[in-house]
Amino acid sequence: MSANTSEIPVIQSIEWLDDHVRIIDQTCLPDREVHLDLFEVGKIWEAIRTLRVRGAPAIGIITAYGVYLGLKEAPETSFDEFDESREQICNYLALSRPTAVNLQWALDRATRCIHEMKNQPVPEIKTALLELAKTIHREDKAICAAIGKNGQELVPDYARILTHCNTGSLATGQYGTALSIIYHAHLQEKNVHVWVDETRPLLQGSRLTSWELQKSGIDHHIITDSMAGWIMQRQGLDLVVVGTDRVAANGDTANKIGTYSLAVLAKHHKIPFYVAAPLSSIDRSLSSGADIPIEERSAEELRKIGQYPTAPADAPVYNPAFDITPHALITAFITEKGIIRPDFTENIALMMDGEAAG
Ligand code: MRU
Repeated sequence: MSANTSEIPVIQSIEWLDDHVRIIDQTCLPDREVHLDLFEVGKIWEAIRTLRVRGAPAIGIITAYGVYLGLKEAPETSFDEFDESREQICNYLALSRPTAVNLQWALDRATRCIHEMKNQPVPEIKTALLELAKTIHREDKAICAAIGKNGQELVPDYARILTHCNTGSLATGQYGTALSIIYHAHLQEKNVHVWVDETRPLLQGSRLTSWELQKSGIDHHIITDSMAGWIMQRQGLDLVVVGTDRVAANGDTANKIGTYSLAVLAKHHKIPFYVAAPLSSIDRSLSSGADIPIEERSAEELRKIGQYPTAPADAPVYNPAFDITPHALITAFITEKGIIRPDFTENIALMMDGEAAG
């Protein structure tokens, strides 16, 4: 049976409307579905920083729209002046969040587009930047659908799956990465059951992934992150599938804090551990995970849940938002172009060079 993506409920976390971006404010979910209209690059920066828009591919998409909005009113008298504005806007957006490489990838694509049009009138370059953002957005939907279709082949009937954080439509142009695989397995009537890690401290699993799975009628239970080992030991699992914010050339993978612990547990229990990754999340400029910048977030995220204190007001806190899973703990990467198995250094290069040549 072939998968029918039209049966996956459409959740548009980012939309372009004539002259601005509309987002679902993910900080309000699941309580309220709030849409925010963003007209300026400063609002885009704030939305990325505060996780109103989050998930590596979604960050890439909104960054591309952010470059256009930031340069829309830039002076049009000379290319050099326009390029200086480009540099300022790109440096500014680059500081919003450091770990997801998709952000820098989108900035690099916008910069290339501008430089390739060096000899064209600036108004035409601006139009091209908006078109580029729409293209990145459209491409991401197709990439996520392909990841889902490629990945569902690894999912057995009645699979018991564990996932972490939110990697669904909210985190991408549509469908998601790891969650797209689950959606596509569901469409193939594989009767999957999903254990959803709550994902401390900001609860992307329980707030967002459960919200998405409920909309699709996919059988699941939320667990706290610390229950994963017990589930593996007592309930049995067929696979773990997660997303990523950045993969180094050797396959070391940055993802939401807690992913590394899951990978260690999966290895101990001999459970396949898959990473769903668009090729735009692979950063071959870094030879290993040691070079991936890890975002450290505010202490308040651990001292409170919402408005409720869960720690003394001035308790010392360490709050890294991501961790690095060494490549040796990863069974395979699931990309839009196919599955990558070890040796990752060799096979990532082969896949990406094929992509560059294609
Ligand atoms: O801090 P977040 O919520 O942006 O972290 C998101 C993740 O870690 C996701 O797993 C990753 O970006 C992949 S989303 C398809």
